Amino acid sequence: MAGKFITFEGGDGSGKTTQVLRLAKMLREYGFDVVTTREPGGTPGADAIRHVVLSGAARDFGPNIEAVLFAAARADHLDKVIRPALEEGAIVICDRFHDSTRVYQAATKDLDLAFLDRLETATLDGVAPDLTIILDVPAELGYERAKARRSEAEADRFESDALDVHAERRERFLAIAEDEPDRCVVIDGRGEEEEIAEDIVAALEDRLGLKPEDEKAERASETVSG
Ligand SMILES: Nc1ncnc2c1ncn2[C@@H]1O[C@H](COP(=O)(O)OP(=O)(O)O)[C@@H](O)[C@H]1O
Ligand SMILES: [Mg+2]
Repeated sequence: MAGKFITFEGGDGSGKTTQVLRLAKMLREYGFDVVTTREPGGTPGADAIRHVVLSGAARDFGPNIEAVLFAAARADHLDKVIRPALEEGAIVICDRFHDSTRVYQAATKDLDLAFLDRLETATLDGVAPDLTIILDVPAELGYERAKARRSEAEADRFESDALDVHAERRERFLAIAEDEPDRCVVIDGRGEEEEIAEDIVAALEDRLGLKPEDEKAERASETVSG
């Protein structure tokens, strides 16, 4: 497909949303066509499913059906937002995607992992991220940041899990990066926002050959020459 598909992954409070917004703003300033989206959600139908899952209302269905709900949301999101934007040549930046399903659902006991794999293959239907940025922070730091961010609001279904569960998720994200080094880049999320943003831009250049400056120059010369 003509565009580039970039996903951001990592635990709660690792800085994904902060960095997705920064990167999108920067790429747009340089003249790129950028679509930002997030999971679970990204379309009205998928947002409705997000609400059901994050509220804990679907917990009684059990892990396999919860995985089906996430898959239904993702299929809609891919059909209505991601695939069309990629076909148009946009850079699509998604805040969480299939790795989060692997990490969050696979950590759930009693989930049939082979079932989860089949569901993933069917749902993605040939679409895969060109680059996945995994923001890595110690579980305690992510937990503190997420807590500070929501202030008085209640933690959601996943945020409220114990610290050791967050630590296990971190390990699972790192294991995915190790399994798929061509797709994934692990970036230390502990530093200043600015430094992390620079590391992300370096990964885009290195892995996707995206050079924001070149794009700007090209657009400028197109404008001059009409
Ligand atoms: N590098 C950073 N250093 C300190 N605080 C950060 C950093 N990045 C994000 N934050 C803050 O931490 C909280 C969680 O960040 P957020 O981007 O929402 O994480 P995520 O989307 O991964 O859950 C927010 O309040 C955000 O402003
Ligand atoms: Mg976020």
